[in-house]
Amino acid sequence: MIKLIGGKRLNTAVFISGKGSNLKNLIKFSLKKNSPIKIRFVVSNNKKAKGLNFSKKYKIESRIFTYSNKQITENQILKHLKKREIKLICLAGFMKILSKNFIRNFQGKILNIHPSLLPKYRGLNTHERAIENNEQYSGCTVHLVNSKLDSGKIILQQKVKINKKDTAKTLKKKIQKNEYVLYPKAIKKLISTL
Ligand code: GAR
Repeated sequence: MIKLIGGKRLNTAVFISGKGSNLKNLIKFSLKKNSPIKIRFVVSNNKKAKGLNFSKKYKIESRIFTYSNKQITENQILKHLKKREIKLICLAGFMKILSKNFIRNFQGKILNIHPSLLPKYRGLNTHERAIENNEQYSGCTVHLVNSKLDSGKIILQQKVKINKKDTAKTLKKKIQKNEYVLYPKAIKKLISTL
């Protein structure tokens, strides 16, 4: 459990790889009056990530890490996080897997949002697989990150009904709408204000 001392906002970093709609949503959440987080840093492994436009727009410092060598890159990222006193990391569509060593540095302090009802459909192409298997429901999960893919402790989940007419595209859209509500809720749940 993360505790806030004296109602101070927790310095948070968001890691992205693409569109960044969750980043945008988390920035908006962080700007609310009683938000428990302050987003101080955005990490992207992709220089073309559209989400970088949001960090620019809201004047949040961001950096692109090209990942030519995973260990070196992670050590660079860790240095940047320590320098900015980051206490919480939110993965938001970040498509790189963090090493055990990296996670050890932020044990219990890295959250991820995944577009399925974990433990079902870990990994990629979740919507395609859920539809192919005639699932009645899919959804999204916010969980802590551990060294196994999409396997850490679940903080919150939201079920979403799959309709007969749903395609991977329509299901993704429906689930993402729910992600925007679930992620802030899960952050609040993880951080207990004193
Ligand atoms: C989100 O829907 C998130 O659930 C998914 O990537 C999308 C990123 O969208 N994450 C994963 O698949 C992680 N395994 P965004 O860039 O618009 O926030």
